[in-house]
Amino acid sequence: MPGFAQASDLSAWKSLMKHHQELGRSIVLKDAFAEDPKRFEKFSRTFTNEVDKSETIFDFSKNFITDETLQLLCQLAREAKVEELRDDMFKGEKINFTEKRAVYHVALRNTENWPMQVDGKSVVEEVNSVLEHMKEFSEEVRSGKWTGYTGKAIDTVVNIGIGGSDLGPVMVSEALKPYGKRDMKLHFVSNIDGTHMAEALRDSNPETTLFLVASKTFTTAETTTNANTAKKWFLEHAKDESAIAKHFVALSTNEAEVTKFGIDKKNMFGFADWVGGRYSVWSAIGLSVCLYIGYDNFHDFLAGGHAMDKHFKETPLEQNIPVLGGLLSVWYSDFFGAQTHLVSPFDQYLHRFPAYLQQLSMESNGKAITRSGDYVKYTTGAILFGEPATNAQHSFYQLLHQGTKLIPTDFILAAESHNPIENNKHQKMLASNYFAQAEALMIGKTPEEVRAEGAADELVPHKTFLGNRPTTSILAQKITPATLGALIAYYEHMTFTEGAIWNINSFDQWGVELGKSLAKKIQSELETSGEVSGHDASTSGLINAFKKKAGIN
Ligand code: F6P
Repeated sequence: MPGFAQASDLSAWKSLMKHHQELGRSIVLKDAFAEDPKRFEKFSRTFTNEVDKSETIFDFSKNFITDETLQLLCQLAREAKVEELRDDMFKGEKINFTEKRAVYHVALRNTENWPMQVDGKSVVEEVNSVLEHMKEFSEEVRSGKWTGYTGKAIDTVVNIGIGGSDLGPVMVSEALKPYGKRDMKLHFVSNIDGTHMAEALRDSNPETTLFLVASKTFTTAETTTNANTAKKWFLEHAKDESAIAKHFVALSTNEAEVTKFGIDKKNMFGFADWVGGRYSVWSAIGLSVCLYIGYDNFHDFLAGGHAMDKHFKETPLEQNIPVLGGLLSVWYSDFFGAQTHLVSPFDQYLHRFPAYLQQLSMESNGKAITRSGDYVKYTTGAILFGEPATNAQHSFYQLLHQGTKLIPTDFILAAESHNPIENNKHQKMLASNYFAQAEALMIGKTPEEVRAEGAADELVPHKTFLGNRPTTSILAQKITPATLGALIAYYEHMTFTEGAIWNINSFDQWGVELGKSLAKKIQSELETSGEVSGHDASTSGLINAFKKKAGIN
């Protein structure tokens, strides 16, 4: 445990406060560029992915930073012992101390077979053996060798899981659709709303459907209920319990519950408790992705994540891309009072990426208690949100450009499209918007410029853009499995850095428990007739109104 309680007690924090007062909002980004022709080179970093040698540029230059800011932020990282915590993570230490667990998703993508241990025991062999199982299984299913109970090949995969057991798989399989097996239908059922399962089943043939029950704990109410519904539906058609073995597999750490559910141990793909739910797409939870894009691509995805791990582990702070991303986030949250962090990919295949990052960021850093057990004296996790552009431009970007809030923004683009249709015209339009948005947010438009365009006097204030809004532009070559792996790992390590500075435990998620237990209690009240009164007046009133409307009297 680090030897500090509150990040705001660190001397670099105090220096940053002073620096903020001096630099603060007096920094005018467009002037900073005019004054320093090398600003782009100075504040952008290039990540070379070892897997395919592709380069991704992380341009931090349109942020409120100077040489001094970076130097102070890196000093803050040193004082907060970010490097020590990072090294502890890579050593398999139990840095998730409230759950007494290592935080070892990096061991799942250890494609170079670094020695990695938990409790003095190597984890490499177990990880590789699950990967081998995933490889064999996915090859059998994809080739048609694995057949259903009537001898037909599998053409539909239904992943039943929620949170990390859903968001990662759905996001990655959407992002890597160009690598997908197009004649395989994929459904992701997460919501307890019966509609989600009903729609997936409506579209599935029991003879050719494979259900992946994805749950780290195998006790999550939504997932077990949905899985039981799927099993019932399946047995109504197959009639024979022994057919389950051909159609249900479990992705879980809980062998006892998996067996109780009726899934054969042979059809279980396991992982260890040191894999956090929101980091589990790299584990057996990624089986749907592996089935869809094939093992070799899945391996490249892991290797891409590993390449970013290596960078994070070995690169000095000033050059360390995820560390810089995390430090900037702290800079905006705690010194500029920014409440949000927008991530907008200029990429339709990445349409679920912001939803995935919401869990990663907000479940990790939506905490207010330091590792020493005190309430923090500063704000922590930003509200992360996003939508793919250019759609987002036509909905909420208005607020970015002319609203009163400071919204640090990441824009993501790949230079090469998977679909260069119409002679790449779409891609050039997409890219021009990517550049234009960051530029417009920075340069704005002065009243003089508006007037010079002939605007009527009364419209001048409405058409003025203050500008000076910070953005980070991420420019990849192409969204390949390796590039996506590295991009996800970038955000994971960025989130890690934020949490390390804030001195919170980014790896537990106690905040989801209260709602879960209250829902359980209310569920039993909905099973019985009669009015309830044991809640506050609003909750009781609503429950009683619901019971009346739903005919539970
Ligand atoms: O309720 C939150 C959570 O525990 C997430 O952290 C996790 O990703 C999700 O539920 C699903 O959990 P499981 O994989 O155990 O079903």
